[in-house]
Amino acid sequence: MTEHNDIVLKMEHIRKEFPGVVALDDVHFDLRRGEVHVLLGENGAGKSTLVKILSGAYRMTSGEIRLSGDQTDIHNPHHAQELGISIIYQEFNLVPHLSAAENIFLGRERIHTTGLIDQKRIVSEAHRVLDGLGVKIDVRRAVGDLGVAQQQMVEVAKALSQDARILIMDEPTSALTEYEIKELFAAIRQLKAEGVAVIYISHRLEELFEIGDRVTVLRDGKYVGTYDIGDVSKSELITMMVDRELKEHFPKVKAKPGEEVLRIENLSTKEVLRNVNLSLRRGEVLGVAGLLGSGRTELARALFGIDRVDRGTITIRGGPRSIRSPRQAINQGIGFLTEDRKSQGLIMVLSLKDNICLPSVDQFSRFGFMNGKAEAQAAEQSIQDLRIKTPSISQQVMNLSGGNQQKVVISKWLCRHADILIFDEPTRGIDVGSKVEIYQLMNKLTARGAAIIMISSELPEILGMSDRIAVMNNGRIAGEFAAGEATQEIILQAALGVT
Ligand SMILES: Nc1ncnc2c1ncn2[C@@H]1O[C@H](COP(=O)(O)OP(=O)(O)OP(=O)(O)O)[C@@H](O)[C@H]1O
Ligand SMILES: [Mg+2]
Repeated sequence: MTEHNDIVLKMEHIRKEFPGVVALDDVHFDLRRGEVHVLLGENGAGKSTLVKILSGAYRMTSGEIRLSGDQTDIHNPHHAQELGISIIYQEFNLVPHLSAAENIFLGRERIHTTGLIDQKRIVSEAHRVLDGLGVKIDVRRAVGDLGVAQQQMVEVAKALSQDARILIMDEPTSALTEYEIKELFAAIRQLKAEGVAVIYISHRLEELFEIGDRVTVLRDGKYVGTYDIGDVSKSELITMMVDRELKEHFPKVKAKPGEEVLRIENLSTKEVLRNVNLSLRRGEVLGVAGLLGSGRTELARALFGIDRVDRGTITIRGGPRSIRSPRQAINQGIGFLTEDRKSQGLIMVLSLKDNICLPSVDQFSRFGFMNGKAEAQAAEQSIQDLRIKTPSISQQVMNLSGGNQQKVVISKWLCRHADILIFDEPTRGIDVGSKVEIYQLMNKLTARGAAIIMISSELPEILGMSDRIAVMNNGRIAGEFAAGEATQEIILQAALGVT
């Protein structure tokens, strides 16, 4: 064994208080050169808070930080960057109207002798970094026009291009598909070989065994322990994280499909969809798998009236419908949990209660208020059902942890009584324990006669929770399988267009 004089970072007795919340209480963490150290814990356990202290976003209440043996105070994000610490935040931190290349080099733009940003140079350097990641993105496009996964890759490229010694990734893969995750892991392995130390946060336990060297578990702001990955099992980790019995991983209740509620025929959009045919019955979960750009989200957007349908018909409860706006979709009983929770789902400055009870879907419409008591009750119920970690229902949503914010979005939809629900990546960023609660809610909804279209990049989730599975490739349905006949391999082949 090495002596570990290669310890690049040591954090001891870290405490962080927020009004009404002790987010971290006597937490320890250390990091070795060239390792991937995973931070694990339930939603709200304190993972993001710990790395935000390192990145200079938060000041700790008390504790000690040593960088390569020297006691260090990290004053602000700029200082952290100077110290060689680079972070990819859980919430995107990109400037939407700037191009991908500009975002990657933001604050360090290559300045031309004329005093202008050397666009040509940043474009070619941005391409170089992204090529290294194996991604093709037009870096001249505004980041706001890119998909979530592509934005995530821009975040990764930005951090990689900063020549960091310590690279922090807070749920970097939550928006990525299987294939892109492989690309990212290849990049991480390369960085490790170069001696970069990586702090890695993810709720996907499989990833931790694939990419991690050590793991530190936090529970409720407290330090549970640090282990070599080879020395712990998945179930031991889960027990340490949640400190309670966990029920079956996928508590799927077999559906008794009722009548057809939705039929899509030859649906095409100008941009992506090509002759999509699907049907959906009451009480069933239709899983939709596919790679990034395969058209999964576009299908949802077309159904919800966000993207214009070029050709094809949509039949709802037996009658032909044209859906030209989200409002019309809602009136038809369609609900849509978008993949991009941050910009479409929540109003950050409002309380948890107000967000759950907002009667309108999009943040741009006006909102009235219902009776206060019923509101509070609905909010309390959601906190219980989904185990939302918050000091009270009046906490501003921006102060909740990432995963708990997502639970609030889900609660919003559960408060409404849509019977055709489209869930785009419903458990992204949700911890293992709470995932089960979301699956159980899906069971409740289908038992009540709702039909669910579940778009997911997690194949185990697709396999574990669907009654039928449609796989998209290149804007088309590349294959449709009954739950029993599909395997990861079959789905991947269809997704890759291999027949
Ligand atoms: N700015 C803030 N103001 C008040 N409370 C906060 C703030 N930031 C975090 N918290 C609270 O601190 C606790 C830890 O949050 P943190 O974001 O670190 O959790 P996490 O482990 O990253 O969870 P997740 O898996 O959901 O991302 C939570 O209870 C959260 O509500
Ligand atoms: Mg977090």
